[in-house]
Amino acid sequence: MRHYIAVFALLAAVYCEEVFNGDQVLRIHAESKKHIQILKELERDVDFGLDFWTNVVSTELPVDIRVPHARLYAIKNFLKENNIPFTVMINNVKELLDREREEMVHNAEMERKTKSFNFAAYHDLDTIYNFMDTLVANHSNLISKVNIGSTYENRHMYVLKFSTGGEKKPAIWIDAGVHAREWISHATAVWLADRIATDFKENRTPVPSILSQMDIYLMIVANPDGYVFTHRSLSEFYRFWRKSRSATSNPKCHGVDLNRNWDAEFGGPGASDDPCAEDYRGPSAQSEIEVKNIANFITDHGNFKSFMTLHSYKQLLMYPYGYVGTDAPDRTELHDVATQASKALNSWHGTVYKVGSIFHTIEQASGASVDWAYLRGIKYSFAFELRDTGEYGFLLPADQIVSTARETWFALRYIMQYVCDHPY
Ligand SMILES: *[C@@H]1O[C@H](CO)[C@@H](O)[C@H](O)[C@H]1NC(C)=O
Ligand SMILES: [Zn+2]
Repeated sequence: MRHYIAVFALLAAVYCEEVFNGDQVLRIHAESKKHIQILKELERDVDFGLDFWTNVVSTELPVDIRVPHARLYAIKNFLKENNIPFTVMINNVKELLDREREEMVHNAEMERKTKSFNFAAYHDLDTIYNFMDTLVANHSNLISKVNIGSTYENRHMYVLKFSTGGEKKPAIWIDAGVHAREWISHATAVWLADRIATDFKENRTPVPSILSQMDIYLMIVANPDGYVFTHRSLSEFYRFWRKSRSATSNPKCHGVDLNRNWDAEFGGPGASDDPCAEDYRGPSAQSEIEVKNIANFITDHGNFKSFMTLHSYKQLLMYPYGYVGTDAPDRTELHDVATQASKALNSWHGTVYKVGSIFHTIEQASGASVDWAYLRGIKYSFAFELRDTGEYGFLLPADQIVSTARETWFALRYIMQYVCDHPY
């Protein structure tokens, strides 16, 4: 009898491990308006604990959802009952999280030993800030570090300014890390900072000529509080944090979506007024100190000609508008520039990007930064969604950082050159 119980306990343990080893990411292929409606209801039900990695838009676009292990059985049954087809994109999120963490620990050790910086690794905020200091020290004739203010949790917000001198030259803005869990955007921006610096130093075209006409401002971590939060623990709750970390009217839910908080059709459709939602817009336009700091900096400068923001994932290169489906006045030109830039990107590794307005490529979004920039006269405003298309989603392996950054550089370089050649 005792033997039997022991065997049973063992079997139960094995079974539990199988079933409860971690969350999965499901890709859902809605086939009808009814399916879309059902999925939208699921998306709005924030209490259910599903984490939508991509939004419910139409039958054209699959929806990726991270489903907590405790909900897997129920959700799969629910989808089957409603005849909504799905596939498993990531079988075991925990396994990828463990691997990511192991690689980071190992890499940090290597970097300490060799006193070097590895671009093919993910880093925490302190390491990125140290990297910025070393880069500035190494290229003090070109780069300076600008402190544009502090975050909700009182961290500095830094922008790297690449300039060959001159007062308020026309300028290009690039930011990354607005959404904390999109780690490939921070890592890409780190690589870009180094690339711009070395290309200038080694006189490689077109960087010196671009920098003779324009300044480049690069913000590697636009949401430092959120980014620190994603490093705090291995648990999914932390690693997949998207928003800022400010308190809201609901004591149970923190944070505002920093890409729905801008003073650009704030409060319209395409953002939530529920503090627990991932796309919570905040209580008022630019209520978030992080958004306010960036907006003030750009407004005070007054001579930005291009605004670009790096996100992930989906491989998209987008332009305004996000808040409405009608064409922006410069739509034809922006579409051409984005198309050429995506071709330049594609020429490196063959990575395929889709091009279009935010509204028509992902979803309606109000209060987004590129709309804000565009509505304030910064014509060349673009948003990137970097790799991949969902195989790893937000858990893109570190061995793809450098190739992602390099191809993105091809697109950015094209746009920067174009902006220089088309003054307005
Ligand atoms: C700074 O310069 C040192 C010495 O040349 C070099 O070893 C280091 O990799 C550089 N670091 C950065 C971030 O540029
Ligand atoms: Zn994003």
